[in-house]
Amino acid sequence: MGTPAGTHIPAVSAVHDSAGVAAESAGARPNPEGSGPAARIALAGVHGFGTHHLRNLGRLQAAGAVELVAVADPQPPAPGAVPPSASVYSGLDDLLAATDNLDIVIVATPIQTHAPLALAALATDAELYLEKPPVASLADFNRLCDAAAASGHGVQIGFQSLGSHALTAIAELLAAGTIGNLEGISATGRWVRDRAYYKRSRWAGKRSINGVDVVDGVATNPLAHAVATALRIAGARTVADVASVETELYRANDIESDDTSVIRIRTAAGLAITCALTICATESVEPYVTLHGSAGRAVFHYTEDRLVVETASGKTEQTYGRDDLTENLLEHRNAGTPLLSSLLDSGAFMLVLEAVRTAPLPTLIDPAYVQWEGEGESAHAVVAGIEEALERAGREHATFSELGLPWAVSAPVSFPVPST
Ligand SMILES: NC(=O)c1ccc[n+]([C@@H]2O[C@H](COP(=O)([O-])OP(=O)(O)OC[C@H]3O[C@@H](n4cnc5c(N)ncnc54)[C@H](O)[C@@H]3O)[C@@H](O)[C@H]2O)c1
Repeated sequence: MGTPAGTHIPAVSAVHDSAGVAAESAGARPNPEGSGPAARIALAGVHGFGTHHLRNLGRLQAAGAVELVAVADPQPPAPGAVPPSASVYSGLDDLLAATDNLDIVIVATPIQTHAPLALAALATDAELYLEKPPVASLADFNRLCDAAAASGHGVQIGFQSLGSHALTAIAELLAAGTIGNLEGISATGRWVRDRAYYKRSRWAGKRSINGVDVVDGVATNPLAHAVATALRIAGARTVADVASVETELYRANDIESDDTSVIRIRTAAGLAITCALTICATESVEPYVTLHGSAGRAVFHYTEDRLVVETASGKTEQTYGRDDLTENLLEHRNAGTPLLSSLLDSGAFMLVLEAVRTAPLPTLIDPAYVQWEGEGESAHAVVAGIEEALERAGREHATFSELGLPWAVSAPVSFPVPST
């Protein structure tokens, strides 16, 4: 049942009615520039990464482009955390039953809730913004694709790096042959996450909960953007664009899923992509995707939209702008603008997720090779020699065991890519 946020309940229904009538009578779609009716938005998940969406929606609401009309979360928002225009519900089903004429539903909830919440949102007349990773299995992905096709609505996946204008610059430099022939791509992620990170939510670091898939591994959640961005640069968007996926998964933390892994992908076009990722580094470095060319290399620091190009003629560095994925989804609803990070285009990523989901349990790294820095919940694991190992893995398209690292006692596991 909805409960009021703040003291503006009467205004909610007034705005709700007038916006609904205006949209129906004029057949109008929301205008992202704010000159048309404000798009009616609902958000599921207001804490955690939901706070990022609240900030972004606050910006868009101030510009007149959107109105946050309702939020759903079993943990109510703190007073003042959502605008007075928003009604508060404890669940998305209640919200959808009580709220008409939504333009966009944003789902920023734990991974294992994505599939049912996304399907519920697609049963309305709204577009869907679904946080990454889209869902926790390929079967759920296929179900969601079917539901999206049947609904005719757009589904944007929250890989916000795919809105970076650097991707256009990368496509242009490849077409111009600036770094010669593209011989391979690597994605390198070395972050630090402490014990508290895995205590923040009951799903953190889980492969499943009571038989429900979660797949919260380093490549599928914290550093998922590295994988998705590398795939996009390689031109691998859909399931059909991937020929093979191999995984080699390890963990230093006391968790079920992996925290230090190599994922080796070959695209249908024959390009090798190697993702070498850890959250057990000495210090956090912003992750990067490297394009290895026959005549140079380009390094894309995707969280910063920064592109560094190195060739025989020197080194250049440029920082680019970025399109906001919520605005892009509004433009899609309004004017049919193509989505920057569509559900279908997350198919290649979903094959990687499925490979991780179905891989054997990650191998525990011998504690002799793991140093714990800090105390208690702030302590974080550092795997011996991990920085060099990640660099070599990316450069040589090799897994940790293939590099002969003393702690890498596992072996690459091939995922049988389903034929399309
Ligand atoms: N795009 C990014 O850069 C980025 C960054 C971080 C997290 N994420 C994604 O955002 C999502 C949420 O991650 P998080 O770390 O904020 O998770 P979280 O565990 O902190 O949960 C987020 C919120 O969802 C609420 N919630 C749980 N079940 C719900 C339900 N059934 N209906 C409505 N609300 C519900 C929780 O109470 C919480 O307020 C995940 O998919 C995660 O991968 C994306």
